[in-house]
Amino acid sequence: MSCPLNLLLFFLLFHLKHASSQAQDGFVFYGFDNRSLELNGNATVGDTGFVKLTNKDGPFYQKGHLFYSLPLQFKNSSLNGSVFSFSTSFVVAFTKSSQATGDGMAFVISPSKELHAAMPSQFLGLFNITTNMDPISHIVAIELDTIQTPEFSDIDNNHVGIDFNGLISNVSFTAGYYSDDNGGGFTKLLFLSGDPLQLWVEYDGAETQLNVTIAPAVATMTKPNRPLLSLKQDLSEFLLDRMYVGFSASFGAVRSDHDVLAWSFKMNGQAESLDLSRLPKLPSGPGKKLPILPISLPFVGVICGLVLAWLIILFVRKIKYKEVLEDWELQYGPHRFSYRNLFLSTNGFKDNELLGRGGFGRVYKGVLPKSKIQVAVKRISHDSTQGMREFIAEIATIGRLRHPNLVRLLGYCRRKGELLLVYDFMSNGSLNKFIFDRPKLALNWAQRFKIIKDVASALLYLHEQWVQVVIHRDIKASNVLLDSEMNGKLGDFGLAKLSEQGADPQTSYLAGTPGYIAPELARTGKSSTSTDLFAFGTFLLEVACGRRPVEMEEVPKKIFLVDWVTDCWGRGNILETVDPKLGKEFVAEEAELVLKLGLLCSHPAAEARPTMSSVVMYLEGEASLPKEFSAEGIAQENKVRIRARSELFGSWLQKDSTPSLTITEKFTSSGR
Ligand SMILES: *[C@@H]1O[C@H](CO)[C@@H](O)[C@H](O)[C@H]1NC(C)=O
Ligand SMILES: *[C@@H]1O[C@H](CO)[C@@H](O)[C@H](O)[C@H]1NC(C)=O
Ligand SMILES: *[C@@H]1O[C@H](CO)[C@@H](O)[C@H](O)[C@H]1NC(C)=O
Ligand SMILES: *[C@@H]1O[C@H](CO)[C@@H](O)[C@H](O)[C@H]1NC(C)=O
Ligand SMILES: *[C@@H]1O[C@H](CO)[C@@H](O)[C@H](O)[C@H]1NC(C)=O
Ligand SMILES: *[C@@H]1O[C@H](CO)[C@@H](O)[C@H](O)[C@H]1NC(C)=O
Ligand SMILES: *[C@@H]1O[C@H](CO)[C@@H](O)[C@H](O)[C@H]1NC(C)=O
Repeated sequence: MSCPLNLLLFFLLFHLKHASSQAQDGFVFYGFDNRSLELNGNATVGDTGFVKLTNKDGPFYQKGHLFYSLPLQFKNSSLNGSVFSFSTSFVVAFTKSSQATGDGMAFVISPSKELHAAMPSQFLGLFNITTNMDPISHIVAIELDTIQTPEFSDIDNNHVGIDFNGLISNVSFTAGYYSDDNGGGFTKLLFLSGDPLQLWVEYDGAETQLNVTIAPAVATMTKPNRPLLSLKQDLSEFLLDRMYVGFSASFGAVRSDHDVLAWSFKMNGQAESLDLSRLPKLPSGPGKKLPILPISLPFVGVICGLVLAWLIILFVRKIKYKEVLEDWELQYGPHRFSYRNLFLSTNGFKDNELLGRGGFGRVYKGVLPKSKIQVAVKRISHDSTQGMREFIAEIATIGRLRHPNLVRLLGYCRRKGELLLVYDFMSNGSLNKFIFDRPKLALNWAQRFKIIKDVASALLYLHEQWVQVVIHRDIKASNVLLDSEMNGKLGDFGLAKLSEQGADPQTSYLAGTPGYIAPELARTGKSSTSTDLFAFGTFLLEVACGRRPVEMEEVPKKIFLVDWVTDCWGRGNILETVDPKLGKEFVAEEAELVLKLGLLCSHPAAEARPTMSSVVMYLEGEASLPKEFSAEGIAQENKVRIRARSELFGSWLQKDSTPSLTITEKFTSSGR
C-alpha cells in the first residue's frame, strides 16, 4: 500500500527539485581523482594521492590550482537570481616551518578554471596587480594567509579571511576555533605547524549568511559550533550563474608546499562529513617546533600621539598633507601610502622617533595606524622630478621582491621636493654599531658568519634568482640591518640610482663610500652586478676585521683595509687581521675563507670577481676558492688598484679632514 505513495512522493520531490532549478550537485574526494578534478599551474599529485598546489622543491614563483572540472549552478538569473545554499568541507596542510614560508592558499569560487594572468606570491595565484579588487573578477575566496601583506591590510601572518574580488579581505581573523563548552575559549591554530587542518565553508542562501570554521583535522575533534568568521553578505552580486569551485596557492621567493588532502562539497545541502581516517598520508617533513612569538602590544604613547596629531590635522590638513600625485602613479595603487598616515604613524616625524640619519635622509620609526605594523620611514629630499617616474616604477618592482634576508620596502609617498619610503622595522638596527661603535655589543664569530651568509643569499636572489636582475648599488655594513633574532637583512637597495637619475645631465654623481667603489664604477659611473660584488668584498673584510674600509692611522694618512689585508696575506699571516675583539674565539678556516673571499670579490679587475652563486658555494663549503688566486697575484693587482685610486680620489686622499662615512664625490661626465 505504501509503495505507490512512496513512488508518488519520489516523483513529487523529483519534480519540485527541477521546478526550483536546485541542482543538488555534490561530491567527496580523498586525494586526487583524475576523472573529475583538474590541476593547473604548478599543482602536482603527491605520492599518496594528496594534491600539492605548490611544490617547495620546485622553482621559485609558483602558483597552482585544483578545480572540480564541471561548473556548478550557483544561481539562476532567470529566476529570482539569489545564490543557492552550499556547504563544503576540506582538509589542507602547510609545510611545517619555523621561519617564513610561501604566501598561502585559498578555497575559491571562480568563473573560470584558467587563471593564467594571475600572479604568484602575495596574489595567491588568484589576481594580478590590475585585477586585484576589480569587480570584474567575480571571485569569492576564503584565504588562508601565512604572510602579513600591509598593502592588503592583513592583520597578521596566520589568518583566515573572506575575500571578494581581491585580497583585501572583507573580514578576517587569526586562525583558530572557539571551544563548545561554556567558556567558549579561543584556541589559536598555526598553519605552519604542518598539521592537517579541516575547514568548513557554509552559505545559507535564504539568510545570506556565510560561515567559515576551522579546527585541527583529528578524529577527536568535531566541527566547533561557533564559526570563526560569520558574515551576512548576499553573494549574488559577486557570483555568476555557473561557477567553478577549487583551490589556489602560491609562493614567491620563499618556497613551501600547500596541500589539499580531502574535499567534500554539496550544493543545496550539507556536505558529506569527511572521514578523517581516509586522509592520504603526508610525508612527515623535517622541521622544529614553532617558537611562540611575542605579540607586540599597541603603544599607548603612540596612540595618544596619534590623537594629538589628529587634532593638528584638522587645523593644518590642507597645507600639511599636500602630496604630489600624478596620473601615471595611479597604477601603483597599493604601494602608495598617504602622507597623512605616515605623519600619524611617526608621531609627526618627531625627533624622538628618529632612528638614524643615513646617506640619503632621516629615518623615523612608525606604527601604521590601521594595521599597527611597525615600520621605518625614510625621508629623502629630492627636488628633481626628472627620473622620478622610472624610480617609482622601480620602487613598485622592489616592493614585489620577497626574500627573508631583504628588508622589505612596503611602499612610498611623494610630496613636493620630498620622497618617503616605508620599510619593515628592524629592531636591532644596523650592523654598523655592532661592529664599530660599541665594543660591548661586538658579535661573536658564529653570528658574523651567519650574517655574511644571510647577505650573500639576499644578493644572490637580487642578482640571479629574481625575474630580473636587481643591482643593489650600495652594499656596506651600515646598510645591513638586524632583526630581533640577529638575522642579517640587506636594506636600501636602488637608492643610489635616485641620485644618479636625479642629477644634472651634464654631471654624474658618484654616490657611495670610497673603499666600496669598484675602480670601473669610479671611471664610468655605471653600476653592475660586479660593482656590487666589489662592495660585497669590502663588506666581508669589514665584518671579519671589525674595521672600516678606510681608516686613518696617522692624520692625514688614510689606510685602506684591503691593502692591509693583502699585505698581511703576503707576509703569510692573514689571520692577524681578524677583529681583535674576537680574541681567539673564531673558526680559523672560516675566517680565512671570508678574508680571502673578501679580497677575491674586491679584485680590481671586474672579470676576476666571482658571481654571487659561486660566492654562496664558497661560503657553504660546496666549492673551494680558485687555486690560481694567490697572495702574490693579489699583491701585484693591488699595485694597480692603488695607482687607480690615487688618480680617482687624489684630492680626497690628501685632504686633512676626518673621514666621513659616506661622501659623495662629484665628477663631470667628461670623466677624469
Ligand atoms: C529565490 O528562489 C529560491 C529557489 O526558488 C528560494 O529558495 C529563495 O528563497 C528565493 N529568494 C528570494 C530572495 O526570494
Ligand atoms: C533557470 O530557471 C528557468 C525558469 O524556471 C528554467 O527554465 C531554466 O532551465 C533554469 N536554468 C537552469 C540552467 O537551470
Ligand atoms: C587517471 O588515472 C588512471 C589510473 O591512475 C590512469 O590510468 C589514467 O590514464 C588517468 N587519466 C588521465 C586522464 O590522466
Ligand atoms: C611552474 O609554472 C610556471 C608558470 O606556469 C612554469 O613556467 C614552470 O615551468 C612550472 N614549473 C613546474 C615545476 O611545473
Ligand atoms: C591581469 O589579468 C588580466 C586578465 O585577468 C589581464 O587582462 C591583464 O593584462 C593582467 N595584468 C597584468 C599587469 O598582468
Ligand atoms: C565588506 O563588504 C561590504 C558589502 O559589500 C562593504 O560595505 C564593506 O565596505 C566591506 N568591508 C571591507 C572591509 O571591505
Ligand atoms: C552561521 O553561524 C551562525 C552562528 O554564528 C548560525 O546561527 C548560522 O546558522 C550559521 N549559518 C550557517 C549557514 O552555517
